Amino acid sequence: MKVGVPKEVRANERRVALVPESVSKLTAADMEVIVQEGAGLSAHYSDEAYRNAGATVVSSASAVYESADILVKVQRPTFGGEDEPPETAMLRSGEVLIGLLQPLYHPAMAKGLAEMGVTSFSMDAIPRIARAQSMDALSSMSSIAGYKAAIMAAEALGIYLPMMVTAAGTTPPAKGLVLGAGVAGLQAIATSRRMGAVVSAFDVRPVVKEQVESLGATFIQEAIHTEDIEDEGGYAKQLNEEAQNLEQDLIHKHAQAADFIIATAAIPGQPAPKLVTAAMVRDMRPGAVIVDLAAETGGNCELTKPGETVVQNGVTILGPLDVPSSVPVVSSQMYSRNMLTLLQHLVRDGELTLDWEDAITKDCCITYGGEVIHAPTLGLLSGSG
Ligand code: NAI
Repeated sequence: MKVGVPKEVRANERRVALVPESVSKLTAADMEVIVQEGAGLSAHYSDEAYRNAGATVVSSASAVYESADILVKVQRPTFGGEDEPPETAMLRSGEVLIGLLQPLYHPAMAKGLAEMGVTSFSMDAIPRIARAQSMDALSSMSSIAGYKAAIMAAEALGIYLPMMVTAAGTTPPAKGLVLGAGVAGLQAIATSRRMGAVVSAFDVRPVVKEQVESLGATFIQEAIHTEDIEDEGGYAKQLNEEAQNLEQDLIHKHAQAADFIIATAAIPGQPAPKLVTAAMVRDMRPGAVIVDLAAETGGNCELTKPGETVVQNGVTILGPLDVPSSVPVVSSQMYSRNMLTLLQHLVRDGELTLDWEDAITKDCCITYGGEVIHAPTLGLLSGSG
């Protein structure tokens, strides 16, 4: 079984799908690993380090695509109509592709992969269950993004995060508001607390209250009807109109007192819920900062422009994309460990072994046998999703 690691081609992507440490584990298990020259360089892994780990380093992407049985990637392949040369043109029928494919946001790509006869697995579709934790790339990447969002807020603010007692006077701690206390939100709370900010957080799922409080933040609780708010996977569902209005009033009140907001509210496969309106931004303090991690799916703030920084009435709104890539060493290490565990799960005795009774295999397999088999993606393609 040959595993291929091409260099990522999407703009600003600095991660690599496998780091040398994971490559050694695969080669020790008698798997061949082929790495494109320079694939790890932007995450500071040299070709030499890959060779020392037992990989064969080849000079072009096409050499990797041509000989690999399993292609491991970070980003979904480019598939035409985009700036970069399409990677899908190099994929072969029967090849296996694993990456953060985001089929719910790109169902046409999933259909295209099925038509090409590619068997694909999406790292963002790994179920959030205990035995899949070590493969859960969405969680490891979100955690890095939450950490970095707190650093971005600190950098963009004109004030200290901690309380400072100096000979020139005392400055109070910055006040942070975190919207959405899932993986990214909890890490944003933890990091801004470590830097000394006073933090409050809001989430529609009351079950996260304890986790928020254990990080030293205040959980904002109001009379929002949040019964039946979780789906079977433990993810949030969309609020009804009355609850949305109550939520907006609540956020409006707390936003006025905040020096920074880190917005991470998300409902899988759907556009980000709009939680911070233009009117709320108008009422925020000049100099306040919003880091909108949900920018990739449209943003939690009405004024967010994905990939840009907007300043409105003195409030700076950051809409960063691909944040984990800005911490490329650690994000490659985490992603690579997630990928290695998934590979060990899918490949037994040198063969791809797919157990359709297994929730991990079933949930993260997107295309197989020329068909899209991922039920949520199929739902989108048939217009019922
Ligand atoms: P998650 O699913 O673990 O957490 C999202 C949280 O939002 C959940 O706790 C959910 O209950 C909450 N939520 C949903 N609707 C809400 C509402 N109306 N009001 C308040 N809370 C609500 O998701 P995760 O992994 O923490 O990711 C969060 C966001 O960060 C996602 O949009 C994800 O795409 C984004 N992200 C962005 C990155 C970037 O580079 N820009 C990198 C990684 C994640």
